Amino acid sequence: MKYTLLSSQATFNKPGQQPDYPPNLLALVPQAVWETSIGGGNPFAFGQPALSEAVADLGCGAGMDVCLAAALVGDSGMVLGIDSNSALLERAAENLRVSAPLAPDPVAEVMFVDAPFDKPGHSTLAEHYGRYDLVISNGAVCLIFDKPQALAMAFALLRPGGRFQLFDLCQVDETVPQGLERRTQQS
Ligand SMILES: C[S@@+](CC[C@H](N)C(=O)[O-])C[C@H]1O[C@@H](n2cnc3c(N)ncnc32)[C@H](O)[C@@H]1O
Repeated sequence: MKYTLLSSQATFNKPGQQPDYPPNLLALVPQAVWETSIGGGNPFAFGQPALSEAVADLGCGAGMDVCLAAALVGDSGMVLGIDSNSALLERAAENLRVSAPLAPDPVAEVMFVDAPFDKPGHSTLAEHYGRYDLVISNGAVCLIFDKPQALAMAFALLRPGGRFQLFDLCQVDETVPQGLERRTQQS
């Protein structure tokens, strides 16, 4: 199993900020959709899914990466967006609807699951275990306190030989920010 940590970046995307995607990917979604992206970068930078592959997105938010994956894997592929914010999932479904006409071929059928991805025992997600060629996450794992549980979900979803491509914010020195240190001590 291959684990790829892309890089660290100081902030999440700001609304309206040009996300870090090449023009051929940005052309697959309307501007109004990429403006809803609040990840930190491009989780496809180290490889795009092939036609027919199955892709899962942990913490998909309003679904820009889901829309891109749906266009890239085509109608014989499969895409799963997981998020615990139902309003964002509704926006993701709408974003998918308005993005689909920009794809060169019919897009994959997409499932959305409203569930926490840091609870590997969650019954709604268990039926998806072992079915994905590529698991991505963009700016979501950094929000999870129990990171081993979040990573366990990524690996549970993957097929043997599957890829995990994570774009996230991370701290590169040993200093724990003041507020976080207090939270660690309390828990
Ligand atoms: C910074 S946003 C990134 C959203 C999306 N990946 C993007 O690039 O626009 C983080 C997302 O993680 C979701 N999230 C945070 N904790 C979660 C959890 N425990 N389970 C599922 N989703 C979670 C939030 O609802 C939010 O949509």
